[in-house]
Amino acid sequence: MHKILTIVGARPQFIKAAAISHVIKEKYTNRISEDILHTGQHYDNNMSGQFFTELDIPLPKYNLGVGSGSHGAQTAIMLKGIEDILLSKHYDGVLVYGDTNSTLAGALAASKLHIPVYHVEAGLRSFNRNMPEEINRIVTDHVSSLLFAPTQTAMQNLWNEGFKGNNVVFSGDVMYDNVLHYSSLSPFTSHLSPFILATVHRDFNTDHPERLNNILSALNTIAEHYNTKVLFPVHPRTKKQLDTFNLHLSPFTFHLVEPLSYLETLAALQKSRLVLTDSGGLQKEAYFCRKGCVVLRPETEWEELVEDGAALLADADKEKILKATEALIDKKIEPSHHFGDGNAAEIIVEKIVNRQKDFAV
Ligand code: UD1
Repeated sequence: MHKILTIVGARPQFIKAAAISHVIKEKYTNRISEDILHTGQHYDNNMSGQFFTELDIPLPKYNLGVGSGSHGAQTAIMLKGIEDILLSKHYDGVLVYGDTNSTLAGALAASKLHIPVYHVEAGLRSFNRNMPEEINRIVTDHVSSLLFAPTQTAMQNLWNEGFKGNNVVFSGDVMYDNVLHYSSLSPFTSHLSPFILATVHRDFNTDHPERLNNILSALNTIAEHYNTKVLFPVHPRTKKQLDTFNLHLSPFTFHLVEPLSYLETLAALQKSRLVLTDSGGLQKEAYFCRKGCVVLRPETEWEELVEDGAALLADADKEKILKATEALIDKKIEPSHHFGDGNAAEIIVEKIVNRQKDFAV
């Protein structure tokens, strides 16, 4: 029996972990056992608990309860907590997802104890080291033993950094698996009028009043011009900053809601005319749901979406946002197979189970 510790902590990781946990439960219970460690990076129910219930993820065996903090402090507390657990219990491997501080802490703690790290969503690069996630991705990839790349671009990025051999695997994207699996379960929305879906949570947008204001002003103009409402689920940091900067959102334009659950997000996507976001995951989910996406960042690690004409980079520049909106609103996107065939989780679990005994740690 291969015993793994799955480390999660932030909202997108719960969603990704659901795909893997389901495959383990359905097909591999006699070959692999999984314990879940929640770092506690996200702790509000609508950022954390609701995903475990809705997606039927096994409850965490451990919760470090680290909460919010500066990057260094938050990562340091996680590192110590994860190390204590890895020292007291035997695990054959540690599974980490994506690029958050929880990913970094899990990868570092395990690799220093010579426990193999399995990285799901390896090889992503924005080539912008001002983003904390870029540092987290690079470090995690370089201490991992098995790297699961969601796209061919991610494979190429890893090869460019000198990775070779069969510990780098093109798996496809577990988020695509999830959209296929959960779409039919998402709430009924045909009674709603179509709207625009917008989210903003990156500190480079929320913590700079000028940038945040540009985005909100663009959304106002779009709502007026296209006679449509903006559904705006608000991340806790964004909520705080709207108050701090005293930015008022008109209820005639914005429908402000708490962070949505996963199934609510899929339902909102299905009913949306366009998505505007600085989230990485939502860019892809928009694409899988055939919606155009205006990316509120200067670059994206999901270049395939831009190459396919499904997403446009607009940063926090009002003119660019308006132009991109004009090009993409109500456009029906035809997704290609960049993200695999919807069986990424299966490929990942299979590879972990049949891993080479002698891969580098
Ligand atoms: C983290 C990830 C980011 C991911 C995002 C998904 C890092 C470096 N970034 O960013 O890649 O896209 O999760 O949401 O790990 N807060 C609450 N309640 C919560 C969680 C957060 O109020 O349950 C507030 C706190 O004020 C906190 C702020 O949100 O300081 C930011 O939270 P943090 O965990 O630092 O990162 P995210 O911005 O959510």
